[in-house]
Amino acid sequence: MHFFQHKDGLLHCEEVMVEEIAREVGTPFYLYSYRTLVRHFRAFDSAFKELPHLVCYSAKANSNLAVLKTFINLGGGVDVVSGGELFRALRAGADPSKIVYSGVGKSEEEIRYALNEGVLMLNVESYQELHLIDGIASKLGTKAPISFRVNPDIDPQTHPYIATGVKQTKFGIDIDRALGWYRDAKELPHLEIRGVSCHIGSQLTEVGPFVEALRRVKELALQLRGEGIEVEYVDLGGGLGITYHQEEPPHPQEYAQAIIEEGKDLPCTYIFEPGRVIVGNAGILVTRVLYTKEGEKNFVVVDAAMNDLVRPTLYGAYQEIASVSEKGGDEKVADMVGPICESGDFLARDRLMPYFEPGDLVAVMSAGAYGFSMSSNYNSRPRVSEVLVRDGAFYLIRERESYEDLIQGEKIPPFLDE
Ligand code: LLP
Repeated sequence: MHFFQHKDGLLHCEEVMVEEIAREVGTPFYLYSYRTLVRHFRAFDSAFKELPHLVCYSAKANSNLAVLKTFINLGGGVDVVSGGELFRALRAGADPSKIVYSGVGKSEEEIRYALNEGVLMLNVESYQELHLIDGIASKLGTKAPISFRVNPDIDPQTHPYIATGVKQTKFGIDIDRALGWYRDAKELPHLEIRGVSCHIGSQLTEVGPFVEALRRVKELALQLRGEGIEVEYVDLGGGLGITYHQEEPPHPQEYAQAIIEEGKDLPCTYIFEPGRVIVGNAGILVTRVLYTKEGEKNFVVVDAAMNDLVRPTLYGAYQEIASVSEKGGDEKVADMVGPICESGDFLARDRLMPYFEPGDLVAVMSAGAYGFSMSSNYNSRPRVSEVLVRDGAFYLIRERESYEDLIQGEKIPPFLDE
């Protein structure tokens, strides 16, 4: 449940009118509801209260410092996948001993950074990475805490771009070979094995694949324990889906019950890395209609584009379109498109929508996850601002970029000025 609702025909974020915020900050902008963020985090966290666990919010879904800090204040850890995300998490005040570092291509510099900061564990994804980590830890005179990210070969039945736990993907190590790798890791002097991890995909709408993944991970973990290899943590990644349109994903409670049931004979601390389920429906993208074009096909041209929200273009993802000020009356089928010079620049396609007119404000719903964090400067469009509402007030948590920001760091070599 989220706190974006129409009251007397006007869209509100909690108690604040979206129109009022638009007047103040201009469009387009991302808008998040603090009450929703907190509610979602707590719902997820408390669903696992019977189990020793740590919720490491997945920073990639939305890495704004204020969003990270919200979950850190609630006791959360952070799942990071790059030096940049680690930097953000630390800046937001995360406890390094609650940070897990995943990623298929960690650089030497990133590994050194993570070890120096004292993260909870690095989820290792290749044999070469394992040896690199051991070597770096040796030079730093420390022991690197690790787990292997295993690929349990489970079809999560989601979009192929976000399915990660099947053998055809680049992620993790083959679970059938993991035992041998753990034995090798045990012999490396600068490693400390902490556990096993996996992440099978994103936007899952059934609990079955999660339970199956845990069953396979559990089998491995019990084998490891049988050999005297420590498994203090089992990291089950993220992936729980949300409703964008007509999906009916399990409630965190249902997901947790299934995990608790399957995990009860594997006592350890469970780590979860939820992203979308926490922030997805806690945010919207607000954009303004610039023009409408009628013809064989109808277009509503808005001021947000694929560089601001790429999910529809990249995955054919459905994002609900809502009017900020309800229009009533007839509807028509149209594409909602942005100003970018690509035919793939759309936010909605062949969608029944109100008769929007220039100047109307539009809310693209469920845009809190993988919205701003995947945005770019394509077509030299400054990235939009981000706003957080709490208790009847709103806060600018990221300023809109300026033209100067766009060229920051660029240099013209002297020969071009001759
Ligand atoms: N842990 C790991 C290792 C991951 O790779 C991911 C997401 C998560 C946790 C968080 O997954 P979540 O709970 O958000 O499903 N850009 C795509 C989603 C990509 C997900 C990548 N990995 C989208 O917009 O749908």
